[in-house]
Amino acid sequence: MKKIYQEIFKLARPYLAVRENQFHTEICYDYAVKLLNYYGGREDIVLPSIILHDVGWSALPDDKIYLAFGPKNPDKKLNRVHEIEGAKIAATILRQLSFKNEDCLEICRIIENHDSGKNPANLEERLVKDADKLWRFNPDGFNTDYRRFDIAPLQYWDYLSVNREEWLFTDYAKSLAAEGLEKIRTKLLEISI
Ligand SMILES: [Fe+2]
Ligand SMILES: [Fe+2]
Repeated sequence: MKKIYQEIFKLARPYLAVRENQFHTEICYDYAVKLLNYYGGREDIVLPSIILHDVGWSALPDDKIYLAFGPKNPDKKLNRVHEIEGAKIAATILRQLSFKNEDCLEICRIIENHDSGKNPANLEERLVKDADKLWRFNPDGFNTDYRRFDIAPLQYWDYLSVNREEWLFTDYAKSLAAEGLEKIRTKLLEISI
């Protein structure tokens, strides 16, 4: 990992100390690198955006965080807080690292829309959104999520399988999600035998 991204991770760490976000972000970062390798695009926009996309969860009290995401009717207004506050925290971090103003604005725009935005404006935004959602299809992400949402694993697997097309924008992300689901299913069936 380039030094600049290590520095962003270091400054983000205190803000990622809730909701398993450090672990979530590290996994999303790896997906962002894979998507960049496949599609190209501006690494200097995508990687800072993915490292900082969830710093805004730190602005919500602990008892509100788990009402704001997941498959059981999340509170969209609370969810929006993590995007808006995240963009503000990201701007502070990026300025400390002397990011150009126009890049800072673009990264913050992506962060502010990473979960709620339905129409990504460019490739970089599509890659960030897909890298974030691919966590759900990662075996470790899956194990974290079905437990914290208190859902039976096979039921959660079905929910992911039904929604994958709608959540993901790029074909490569869809194929990574399909691979992930296959791995998860094989493990779940092994356990249930
Ligand atoms: Fe998020
Ligand atoms: Fe996220």
